[in-house]
Amino acid sequence: MESTRGVDAVVLVGGKGTRLRPLTLSAPKPMLPTAGVPFLSHLLSRIRAAGITHVVLGTSYRAEVFEEYFGDGSALGLELEYVVEAEPLDTAGAIRNVYDRLRAEDVVVFNGDILSGADLGELVGTHRKTGADVTLHLQRVADPSRFGSVLTDPSGRVTEFLEKTPNPPTDQINAGCYVFRRSVIGSIPEGRPVSVERETFPGLLGSGAHMQGFVDSSYWLDVGTPEAFVRGSADLVRGVAPTSALPGAPGAALVLDGADVHGSATVDAGATVGERAVVAGGAKVGGSVLFDDAVVEAGATVENSVLGRGARVGARTVLRGVVLGDGASVGADCELLDGARVWPGMSLPDGSVRFSSDA
Ligand code: GTP
Repeated sequence: MESTRGVDAVVLVGGKGTRLRPLTLSAPKPMLPTAGVPFLSHLLSRIRAAGITHVVLGTSYRAEVFEEYFGDGSALGLELEYVVEAEPLDTAGAIRNVYDRLRAEDVVVFNGDILSGADLGELVGTHRKTGADVTLHLQRVADPSRFGSVLTDPSGRVTEFLEKTPNPPTDQINAGCYVFRRSVIGSIPEGRPVSVERETFPGLLGSGAHMQGFVDSSYWLDVGTPEAFVRGSADLVRGVAPTSALPGAPGAALVLDGADVHGSATVDAGATVGERAVVAGGAKVGGSVLFDDAVVEAGATVENSVLGRGARVGARTVLRGVVLGDGASVGADCELLDGARVWPGMSLPDGSVRFSSDA
């Protein structure tokens, strides 16, 4: 691994996480319980494992909860600083806003909602070897048509940013992780929202800056949607996604302290059962995330779903690909499928919703 000595990290955690509502109404996306700890713990563990210790969090939405949980970072072997935006400054505006806290020449910037196995030492090594102004982690993905893509020349230098198109000419996408030369951050306009993808990067390329690509094809996932969030959590639990923050050994399921899983229940496919949560007799929980105090009653099936804190699933009810907000409750003998979201505190009566007529 190349050295990451003398490197600062910046993590952007100020987004509203609208695609994960209603879970993000009570907690910002990077603080959502994921494989037993806040999502951000996994990213911070990866930063620490790469030998980077000075980390600045750019916060905005629900800014206070980060410091309440992580404090000065010393428990994680980190020196954590927090910078709050009164009004959200968007991605590049957020990076510019932490400029005064930076000490190192090279700064690794992370979107706070990505799981990745890319080697940070090699990313920084590429940046230093090529003398780039900015180095972008470019991820090779199976279906690049869902993303904007990034073209590079044979030396790996970025030549073009392309909008989303049905048949992109490359499978390399912007993975949401960059190394900036600190002076480049100083050149971002101050005090107004600026997007790194839409304004800063195209502007830098247009002015002849050296933007290097670091192409990688190890594990990568943006957990911005409920479906991806569930998959990311299950991958962490099963040891497929890299982390050193998993509270326990990787395996088929993670059952946290004080949870009560009945002997005749099945909990698998990377599911997490939160503290004091209950899974009753004959229930099946697969690949799902049950926040603390959630309850799955007898004979219910919960697949690839998220149950918010204290949410309740009635007996024999089936949920597949569903999100229940904190304290929401679905009565017995219901069936909710792909994309259904129940808002916090709402209750669906017994037998009130089905997606089929087989009952
Ligand atoms: P959606 O609303 O669901 O799109 O989620 P989001 O608000 O997190 O936006 P997006 O996924 O595009 O953001 C990518 C990363 O940048 C996430 O880690 C966000 O927390 C972060 N981010 C987005 N906007 C801001 C901002 O205005 N300020 C800061 N500090 N971070 C931001």
